[in-house]
Amino acid sequence: MTYKLFVTRELFEDVIEKLSKYYDVEVWDKYTPPPYETLIEKIKDVDAIISLLTDRIDCNLISKARKLRIIAQYAVGFDNIDVECATRNGIYVTNTPGVLTESTAELTWALILAVARRIVEADNFVRWGEWWRTKTAWHPKMMLGTELMGKTLGIIGLGRIGSRVAEIGKAFKMKIIYYDVNRNFELESKLSIEYKSLNELLREADIVSIHVPLTKETYHLINEDKLRLMKRSAIIINTARGAIIDTKALIKALNENWIAGVGLDVFEEEPLPQNHPLTAFKNAVIVPHIGSATYEARHAMAEVVAENLIAFHQGRVPPNLVNKEVINVRKPGFQ
Ligand code: NAP
Ligand code: GLV
Ligand code: GLV
Repeated sequence: MTYKLFVTRELFEDVIEKLSKYYDVEVWDKYTPPPYETLIEKIKDVDAIISLLTDRIDCNLISKARKLRIIAQYAVGFDNIDVECATRNGIYVTNTPGVLTESTAELTWALILAVARRIVEADNFVRWGEWWRTKTAWHPKMMLGTELMGKTLGIIGLGRIGSRVAEIGKAFKMKIIYYDVNRNFELESKLSIEYKSLNELLREADIVSIHVPLTKETYHLINEDKLRLMKRSAIIINTARGAIIDTKALIKALNENWIAGVGLDVFEEEPLPQNHPLTAFKNAVIVPHIGSATYEARHAMAEVVAENLIAFHQGRVPPNLVNKEVINVRKPGFQ
């Protein structure tokens, strides 16, 4: 008996080949995501799906997927999936933690440095001829930014990515503080970092970097009140999920100079609409959700997705099971 697997975007061929030994694989080969209605049609008669964060896997869709037993998400975040609904229906949900930690932490630092040292603004200054037109080869006050050494880095969510960002921060000789639902005493002493309440962190940090998942609790965690707590010289970085920040409040904060700059990889609406207000700010560095976009991470994520699907096929608990309670609803495997 072969089981059907629908893959919502082109992954790496070697991984698809590996999966073909276990599954009858169909790949959505367009560059854009399958429309919701198409996804419903596809999911109706497949046993497994590889989903992306752009695929809305809600309860309506899940209820139509009569044969579906596993949703293998090609991402660590899974806020696009109604996991509770999947669990009730005995559907396993897996993700790809760990293998993209380094790439996402590195992108976070790329954004911190880009905002602090005005890299994009400075590049445009040279590229579009302004440097030439000003006839100023070098000036003591040209393109001044902020030095990181001795400044305070505030990490919101000291998980895999947040703690790697903290570790790198040590190399810049920064003071590091964090907020999380749980304290991590071991990391506190290993990295000599301090736990703070969210409000304390926002008041004290020069750089605030967000690394919590998007959940009901973290939706608009950073709203107008929270932004008002920040220093006027502070920079906020978001490589987690767009909806953790209230975008309207952020635009107000930038317009009224409550904060000094932002670096964003993620947005409440993706792709970011053309001429979005955020595009008007020189002190905003905005990139298109490329946190894990390295050859290394993206290939490793595909391998992890395959490991989860193969384990499930063999009747084993997938190594990156998100909804552990599902085991009580249905045993792993298609039998
Ligand atoms: P992780 O290891 O689970 O870290 C998340 C941390 O946030 C955990 O320590 C978690 O605590 C904590 N947390 C959860 N809910 C919280 C709340 N309400 N308030 C405070 N802290 C809370 O996840 P990760 O691998 O570091 O990834 C973090 C997120 O980054 C992902 O969920 C994803 O959305 C995003 N991401 C984005 C990209 C990108 O391309 N830009 C790439 C990778 C990941 P507990 O463990 O105790 O729940
Ligand atoms: C990317 O955003 C992920 O969650 O893996
Ligand atoms: C700058 O280029 C310097 O030499 O200080």
